Amino acid sequence: MKGIETSCDDTGCAIVDSEGHILGECLNSQHLVHLRNGGIIPPIAQNLHRQNIENVVNTTIKQANIDFSQIDAVATTVKPGLPLSLSIGLKYGKHLCRTKGKLFIPIHHMESHALTCRMHDNSIEFPFLVLLISGGHCLLVVAQDVDKFLLLGESIDDAPGEAFDKMARRMKLMNLPEFATLSGGQAIELAASKGTDAEQFKFSVPLLQYKNCNFSLAGIKNQVWRHIVQQEKLHNVEADALIPDVFNLCAGFQLTVTRHLCHRVQRAIEFVKLHNLIPEEKQTLVVSGGAACNNFINKALQVVCNEIGYRLVRPPPKLCTDNGVMIAWNGIERWRKNLGVMKDFDSVDIEKR
Ligand code: KG4
Ligand code: ZN
Repeated sequence: MKGIETSCDDTGCAIVDSEGHILGECLNSQHLVHLRNGGIIPPIAQNLHRQNIENVVNTTIKQANIDFSQIDAVATTVKPGLPLSLSIGLKYGKHLCRTKGKLFIPIHHMESHALTCRMHDNSIEFPFLVLLISGGHCLLVVAQDVDKFLLLGESIDDAPGEAFDKMARRMKLMNLPEFATLSGGQAIELAASKGTDAEQFKFSVPLLQYKNCNFSLAGIKNQVWRHIVQQEKLHNVEADALIPDVFNLCAGFQLTVTRHLCHRVQRAIEFVKLHNLIPEEKQTLVVSGGAACNNFINKALQVVCNEIGYRLVRPPPKLCTDNGVMIAWNGIERWRKNLGVMKDFDSVDIEKR
């Protein structure tokens, strides 16, 4: 199975066999270009996908060292994502299927993040609980089957990765040489690890009084933002300099986001237990998406799971962020159940959500 991913700023491709072995993979990240621009500019992302997709696909095939005749189908992300970026993968995936006579499988990016864990661990059976935390999404769902998800809650404003990216930029962390090439989330995690007191700044955890599973990151972000503005004024901080105690500030910010995520997960597990949505022997929480790479968040989730008797599963970090492997694996899951495997795919279009 071949998978193609272009939903945001990574051009990814992979060939995975039906047992979940990765035969070939290639990923071109546009991260450094967007870092220089202060954020993703969709037409620039689209151009870079256009320039790179052929090379990414060919490198994958070369690495896999197989003939195209051994590939059954091409799975391609069609939603959700940046429409201009998605359109490049879709066009290329369709082109491959048309010229090589392959079947086409349209893929939902978040379904892939949720299912990746099953590639390396076939003991993860439906239903299981999933926390998806990325740059664009924050969701708690019960994965009931390959194409069946029960949404328990989502962010009412920012996603965690988005909040980390914005705050890392606002704190100018990437001006430090050691941080220059990191994503916002990686920068916050590294800065926080250099902090000595995560409680120096106290921020309130949002939605504590609400007994639902929704998230809100904007309030935490605003509290941190206000603190930065205050400190800049107070200490007359120069334009590209960092405020004093920035590492403790990052530690406090990361701690507050983590407390919030853990609180919502606890709430979701209570809800799942109350409604008997997951049998006791299958009680598993899968955490995925780019922000799941954060080891501090992961450790905290592990504590919550240990307390409640859940198993915590996180795919290897390089499969938590966007990649072609997860799309190919999702294609295999759909292929096995004959879900959305298409011979006639001309009318398939990208979707925003
Ligand atoms: O899943 P992903 O590659 O793309 C989306 O679908 O959004 O996630 C990218 C996001 C970025 O916002 C990045 O800052 C965040 O994942 N991220 C992290 C870490 N590594 C990447 N957030 C927190 N801690 C990390 N170590
Ligand atoms: Zn993603």
